[in-house]
Amino acid sequence: MRREKWTKLQMKKNKDDIEKAALLTEPKALEIEKYLKSKLPPKRYTHVLSVRELALDLAEKHGADLRKVNLAALLHDCAKWMQTSELYETAADHRIQLDEIEYHNPSLVHAPVGAMLAVSHFDVDNPEILNAIRIHTTGSSKMTLTDKILYVADFSEPKRNHAAADAVRELAYQDLIKAVFEVSRYKIEHLLAKGVLIHPYTIDAYNSALQEIGEPE
Ligand SMILES: [Fe+2]
Ligand SMILES: [Fe+2]
Repeated sequence: MRREKWTKLQMKKNKDDIEKAALLTEPKALEIEKYLKSKLPPKRYTHVLSVRELALDLAEKHGADLRKVNLAALLHDCAKWMQTSELYETAADHRIQLDEIEYHNPSLVHAPVGAMLAVSHFDVDNPEILNAIRIHTTGSSKMTLTDKILYVADFSEPKRNHAAADAVRELAYQDLIKAVFEVSRYKIEHLLAKGVLIHPYTIDAYNSALQEIGEPE
């Protein structure tokens, strides 16, 4: 690599490292961490910090907005402490529109409720951050870079113990869209094996990632 190019890359890395260090100590991030630590079971809290760490690494690698990724990752499971009844009550109280599949699948509801809490508790109003939280479990057909990073980091952070996590995490550094495809494929296979409902957004994520990659011959 030419010396000039290497120096530029090194300067960018130093700048990203400084920005990353600042993000970890910014007041809003610390306030969210404090809330999560007091609300979430320890294992879930550790998962969130692990998602954040991986998501920031991927954001650096793929040139995403570190601040947006940091807040989306920190907040993605912020409603995960609620019991099922509380999730549905909160959704109803705040007039959150749940679709048919969300209505029948409690494990999906923490995502839209979490996006609402991000607004009401932490004054987050950036639509890209809110959408990444909203679709972090299902994916969708038109995912932004922030959406993709959170979707993949949530699935493959190092503390996840399912079979595909390590391979997807490695792939995510090389080719993010292939990682999105593998996550949605794994989720669909897993849901099919269990014989449960599949949210159409998960199929959309699979189809659009595959179209972007190009179908096998
Ligand atoms: Fe989640
Ligand atoms: Fe999560």
